[in-house]
Amino acid sequence: MGVGISLFPLASAVAREGGLGIISSAGLDRIVSKRNGKRVNSYEAAYEEISFAREAGGQHVGMNVMVALARDYQESVKGAIDAGADVIISGAGLPLSLPLIHPAKDTALIPIVSSARALEIVCRKWEKAGRRPDAAVLEGPLAGGHLGFRIDELDMGANRLENLLPAVMDVAREHGDFPIIVAGGIYSHSDIARFLQMGANGVQMGTRFLATVESGASHEYKQAVVDAKEEDITVAQSPGSPCGLPFRVIKHSPMFVSALKRLRAPKCDKGYVLQKDPSGNFSKCAAKQDNADYFCICNGLLSSSGYDPAEEPLFTAGTNASRVDRILSVHDLMEELKH
Ligand SMILES: Cc1cc2nc3c(=O)[nH]c(=O)nc-3n(C[C@H](O)[C@H](O)[C@H](O)COP(=O)(O)O)c2cc1C
Repeated sequence: MGVGISLFPLASAVAREGGLGIISSAGLDRIVSKRNGKRVNSYEAAYEEISFAREAGGQHVGMNVMVALARDYQESVKGAIDAGADVIISGAGLPLSLPLIHPAKDTALIPIVSSARALEIVCRKWEKAGRRPDAAVLEGPLAGGHLGFRIDELDMGANRLENLLPAVMDVAREHGDFPIIVAGGIYSHSDIARFLQMGANGVQMGTRFLATVESGASHEYKQAVVDAKEEDITVAQSPGSPCGLPFRVIKHSPMFVSALKRLRAPKCDKGYVLQKDPSGNFSKCAAKQDNADYFCICNGLLSSSGYDPAEEPLFTAGTNASRVDRILSVHDLMEELKH
């Protein structure tokens, strides 16, 4: 969970409890630079965070690198692999180039998809590079953060996680029978058991770990998750993320409120979701030109993990945020999930 939510303290705590702890690469260069009092680049930030997670006793740790973070994508992947990450998980766009970036013999490469079609495309592309996914995450429409569906597709019965799973498992079987990890709306032990019974091999959980003691979310953010009711959670689209993907938020997060009232000037001073212009330079961000359809989520998300307390925070969360009723330790949460 980015930005700054899943750092080494959360990932290593999950790993010490027997899970696979995942660090988000989003905005990591700024967060680590601030922590160190010295500017580091995305490669160094990814390297350091994975190394710290290991030193903190995390047996199995990895990094999530979003395709949409185009400018820093390759360096984040290289830094994580060189530091010995067990896995790279990559979505928010199709990670078609992932196997070509850096030799990753001992690092599992795991795409995130939201449909069987997307997984088929990834498998075919990766096969040309001589690699098949080591596993895939199937993320359904109830997840937090960016969503891999159009806004009108979110409520369709066919897109419920349990309905997407069989076709995705078929694709995995056709391409070497790799494991499928399901994500989006999984809350309890019984949810986990239900999906394992349906044939999934694992689950990925975000929102439940957002309000843990070890999460990098500010106290205000954790409390907003605890206080959130079903009607407080919505999907931002226009104005929305400059990535163009629907983005689930807690309605009253200060940056979202200002963005809805068009109080924010078009802005891009962080550059994480910059895309290439016709001359091949990373200079284009939708939020740079336009505040009618887009707003600068980078600044809001950085603020929500305490990077810049003067900026308005932006709280993203999955639909499950309405069920979270307290802040607890990763140990207690993992114990609860076992029974
Ligand atoms: C606060 C937050 C930040 C997230 N950040 C990322 C991210 O940086 N990259 C990504 O691929 N997914 C991200 N996600 C999605 C999660 O990795 C996960 O797949 C999803 O939230 C699972 O659904 P759940 O929250 O219902 O458990 C984020 C989710 C949340 C709640």
